[in-house]
Amino acid sequence: MTATKGRAKAGHASRDLRILVVHGPNLNLLGKREPEIYGTQTLADIDADLVIVAKDLGVEVESIQSNHEGELIDRIQEAMGHADGILINPGGFTHSSVALRDALVATDLPIVEIHLSNVYARESFRRLSYVSPIAIGVISGLGAQGYQFGLEALVKRLKR
Ligand code: DQA
Repeated sequence: MTATKGRAKAGHASRDLRILVVHGPNLNLLGKREPEIYGTQTLADIDADLVIVAKDLGVEVESIQSNHEGELIDRIQEAMGHADGILINPGGFTHSSVALRDALVATDLPIVEIHLSNVYARESFRRLSYVSPIAIGVISGLGAQGYQFGLEALVKRLKR
């Protein structure tokens, strides 16, 4: 997937790049949920920081969160022809959802997978990701900053 392809597909060669940020189940609880693992920042904090980074990079971000697999799939499908790339923390669906992966593949957009925690340093079931093989890269264990690094990397890839 090249940047040219992504932009051409979205059909607006001269507009800013658009990145869809997808937060999966239970990430709405960030700040309260196991802060020793996931940190104290809320999802709103993370999204607000991403807007600042996006502004610096000259791109648009839209963030969505859902606890429902079908809702996430619907929103990912809607990104087709609209977004240029997807930054996703699939939460627990990382390790279980073939359907979510299929939706991501169907978009034919570059995907960056984010995890706040280091999934490789935790329970063994977290080491399997259905998303990693179809992502251009994975950031795991760098906390909320991982989203910012991921956005930078995704935009850099789209611009090259
Ligand atoms: C997570 C890791 C997943 O294993 C877990 O189910 C989550 C959050 C993370 O950001 O570290 O919900 O994706």
